[in-house]
Order: sequence, then C-alpha cells, then structure tokens
Amino acid sequence: MSETISTSDRSANQNSQLFEPLTAGELTLNNRLTMAALTRQRAGEDGTPTDLHRDYYSQRASAGMVVTEGVFPAYSCRAFPGQAGIANDEHAAAWEPVVKKVHEAGGTFVMQIMHGGRTSHPDLLRGAEPEAPSALATGWPARGFGGKIEAPVPREMTLDDVARVKREFLDAARRAMAAGFDGVELHGANGYLLHQFLSPVSNVRTDEYGGSPDGRARIVVELLRELAEEIGAGRVGLRISPQHNIQGALEEDDADVLATYGAVMDAARELGIAYVSMLYADVAGAGAGDAGAGAERGRGLVAQLRERFGGVFILNSGFAEVTQLDDALHIVEDDLADAVAVGRMFIANPDLVRRWRNGLELNEPDKSTFYVGGAHGYTDYPFVD
Ligand SMILES: Cc1cc2nc3c(=O)[nH]c(=O)nc-3n(C[C@H](O)[C@H](O)[C@H](O)COP(=O)(O)O)c2cc1C
Repeated sequence: MSETISTSDRSANQNSQLFEPLTAGELTLNNRLTMAALTRQRAGEDGTPTDLHRDYYSQRASAGMVVTEGVFPAYSCRAFPGQAGIANDEHAAAWEPVVKKVHEAGGTFVMQIMHGGRTSHPDLLRGAEPEAPSALATGWPARGFGGKIEAPVPREMTLDDVARVKREFLDAARRAMAAGFDGVELHGANGYLLHQFLSPVSNVRTDEYGGSPDGRARIVVELLRELAEEIGAGRVGLRISPQHNIQGALEEDDADVLATYGAVMDAARELGIAYVSMLYADVAGAGAGDAGAGAERGRGLVAQLRERFGGVFILNSGFAEVTQLDDALHIVEDDLADAVAVGRMFIANPDLVRRWRNGLELNEPDKSTFYVGGAHGYTDYPFVD
C-alpha cells in the first residue's frame, strides 16, 4: 500500500475545531470527523453481518460518528450483492456484537437504512420486480450477483407499496435500535429509492407522492416523522444529495430543488432530528481556494438548506475528489457545516482521526477492493503503529 505525507499547510491541527466534540440530538460525537456511509459488499447472500463487519467498524470507532454502509430493511429493497441487511431478527442479532465492539471502542454508531428502488434487479430481490415511484429505468446498470447487469424497467409503486415500504423502514429502525445502535440514518441520496421520489425526472407520479415539490418530498417527510415517533427525533439522521444527478435521478432546476429539499428541511426542523448529512459535489476543491461559479452556487444551496434546517449539518464534497484534510478543515473551520462526512480516507485509514490530528502518514485507498468480498482492503489497512 502506498503511503503519502499529509500536505496540509494548516498549522495546529490538534487545536482545530474539527477535533472538538459535538452533540447532535441524542448523539454524542467525540469530534466532527464522521465516517460516511460506505457500501463494501462484505456480507453473504442472506445479508447477515459477520466478524469482518465487527472488526472493520470497530477499527474505525474513533470517528466522531460511524455510519454503516447502506443496509437493506427488507429483501425487496436490496441494491447490491454482499449488502448487509436488517430485514429480520437474525440480522439484528448478528449486528449486536458489531455494535457492542464499536461501543467498547468508544464509538457512536448509526445505521444507514436504504432501499435501492429501480437501481436493483430481480437477482437481488429473490425474483421480485424492482419497484420505484414511476415505471422508468435508470439508464444505468444494476449490480447483480454475477456483476453488472442491465436494470429492468421497475414497477410503479402503488399507494399500498408506499405504505408497506414505510413500514419496512420503521421495522428496520426498531430492529437496529434493539441491536444497540445509537441512531438511524435515512438514505435519501445518490439516486436510490427516496432520491427517486425527490427527483422530478424519476418521479412523474400524479398522486400525493408526486406532482409538486411537496408531493415528491412527502415520502421522506412522512418517514422522518414516523421514525421520530418510533425511535425519538434525536436519534434520526437524514442523508441527501441534491443535484448529485447520478443514476438518472436528475435535478436540474435550482428553484425546484430548493422547494423540494426546503420542504424536507422544514419537516426536519419541526421534528428536531439529530442531523442532516449532505453530499454536494460543488463544495469539492473549495479547500484549494478555487471557488468557481459552480462552487458559489453549491455553497448557496448548502447554506440555504442548512439555515432552513437549523440543526446539526454534516457536509461531504462528493465523489469527484477524495476528501482530504484541507477540505475537512475548510468545511468545519469556515463554518460551511458543523461536521464533515469522510468516506474513502476512512476506508484506508482506520485511525484517520489520529493521523489527521497529528499530521501523520496516510494510507491511500485501493479502489480495486472497495466492492469485493473478504478481509483484504477491508480490515487489513494498517494503523499508524
Ligand atoms: C465504496 C463506496 C461506497 C459508498 N456507499 C455509500 C452508501 O452506502 N451510502 C451513502 O450514502 N453513500 C455512499 N457512498 C458515498 C460516500 O459516503 C461519500 O459521500 C463519497 O465517498 C465521497 O466522499 P469521500 O471523498 O470522502 O470518499 C459510497 C462511496 C464509496 C466510495
């Protein structure tokens, strides 16, 4: 594994706000460097987490908060082979030792719950058809057990399906809390089911779950409310990625985006959920001091949504560039957000907090092992010592 030296020119990282604690609802973060949700596809066919999950997550427990990979709440929601589930009591029982070890290592641990919607494939759904807000294909391949495969046109969800999916998320959240998790993060990002509802391109419904910004936001708003009732608002987080424009969940009209996500933020504020975690690509590069028109626009949306929510706001600058220390410092110290979500550098550095705080050497992430099974590239990245 190649090693590089941190090139941060910010002095006194140890005293940076990035390493100061933060309270988010009922969640206590020892620092503002949170581990982003990362799908790693290390579970077996039935989605049961293993000792590998226990080791991987507990190795990273010094993050201010550890968020799991996107976990499926029911088999009909699965998006990837090797994805871990919280679809039954056996899954919950298998998560218990994972949670226990993260807690023993001092971590705060939140489960991200996701439904793949139209990004899925019958292979992953035990033969069932993928479901989505509208019968429109992504135009992107699905990931089947045998590799990438054409994603079929999904079935348009009925109102009964919407009610069933909401129940599945609630049951999953209840199981996650029973397994000991500190909270649950609703995955409303990256072109998966809830994002498919939010986007006017993937959601062309004419009933109350579509047709207007409020209609498209409705399933997310209802889920936030129901989750808050179920496990307490202070234990509910939400991930969003407005204008991420991937997997065909396009959002190209700025006013529509603000209206749709504004409706979600208003509900999040009213409920007082623990945090909103936002992925926004145009924040990338801001640490390098290059604020182009896109970056300005992005900061505008970030600032507007943050203000509209008013609670703990976590920011991530998207896939284009791997988040570096300078980006993280910029986000927190220049008050773009209260905390930063970091993905790939946490894959490669289980002790990333210590390394960044003390300006130590860094392992570089190896892309070829992101989505394959096994310990290599998962639990074998070295600690500093
Ligand atoms: C291997 C991999 C898996 C990911 N899986 C998820 C996921 O399950 N849920 C999610 O919300 N984001 C997921 N993301 C997005 C990350 O949380 C993060 O936003 C992205 O990696 C960019 O941040 P970084 O530059 O710090 O890595 C994934 C990213 C990668 C690289």
